[in-house]
Amino acid sequence: MIKIIQLSDTHLHADKSILLHGISTQERLEKLLAKIKSKIKNVDAIILSGDVSQDRSAESYINLAKALQPFKKPVYWFAGNHDDPRVMRDTLQQFDTFHPLDSLTLGPWQFLVLDTILEGSNAGYLVENNESLILENTFCALLMHHHPTPVGAESIDKYKLQNPEILEEFLSQQKKLPAVIITGHVHGAYQTSFATIPVISSPATCFQFPKVAPNLEIDPIGGCTFWVFHDNGTFEYEYVYNEKR
Ligand SMILES: [Fe+2]
Repeated sequence: MIKIIQLSDTHLHADKSILLHGISTQERLEKLLAKIKSKIKNVDAIILSGDVSQDRSAESYINLAKALQPFKKPVYWFAGNHDDPRVMRDTLQQFDTFHPLDSLTLGPWQFLVLDTILEGSNAGYLVENNESLILENTFCALLMHHHPTPVGAESIDKYKLQNPEILEEFLSQQKKLPAVIITGHVHGAYQTSFATIPVISSPATCFQFPKVAPNLEIDPIGGCTFWVFHDNGTFEYEYVYNEKR
């Protein structure tokens, strides 16, 4: 059994006092981590599913690393549209428990990342040549920052994966389909599907975009997702928030 916590969309700044939509993203993260402190002790790994930084600064990544270091857990990360992948890599490699996530095998599970980042775009694009990426383990969880299927929230759906046909093609080349597609980006707990595969998105640690938000109102609650991947290929997940919903 593999236990993982997914932290997504922390949107940190170099200057911890800077607010985003009136919210201290640093304070939201720290409050969440304080709440889940004992639960995090039981996980095998932490996965960061993108948008760690809001200002793309090295210091913002250092702020994240310092917040997670006390847990002494391996941290696997991949970039979101707000990140600078080069700065992220150069900065986080200074911390020995942090690893870029491309393909990770834990027990019978493979955690495979598809890169959806296109420089200068908030929407997601898959590169056309994914032939080197194959699902090789018994069971697979496919991870990507952007969501491949609309969640029904207009404000974020316009920034979803723009070329889902590449994902379809990738999946059609596989002998076995992934058990689940895991995303960040949407700032909300959504469950959809893509080509019969469940798509599960994590709440952001900083704030959520409500489904109907004509004036880009935000919900200041922060959350994360605890995952359990069983040896028989089934999985469970639980959303945890820093305040009562
Ligand atoms: Fe994003």
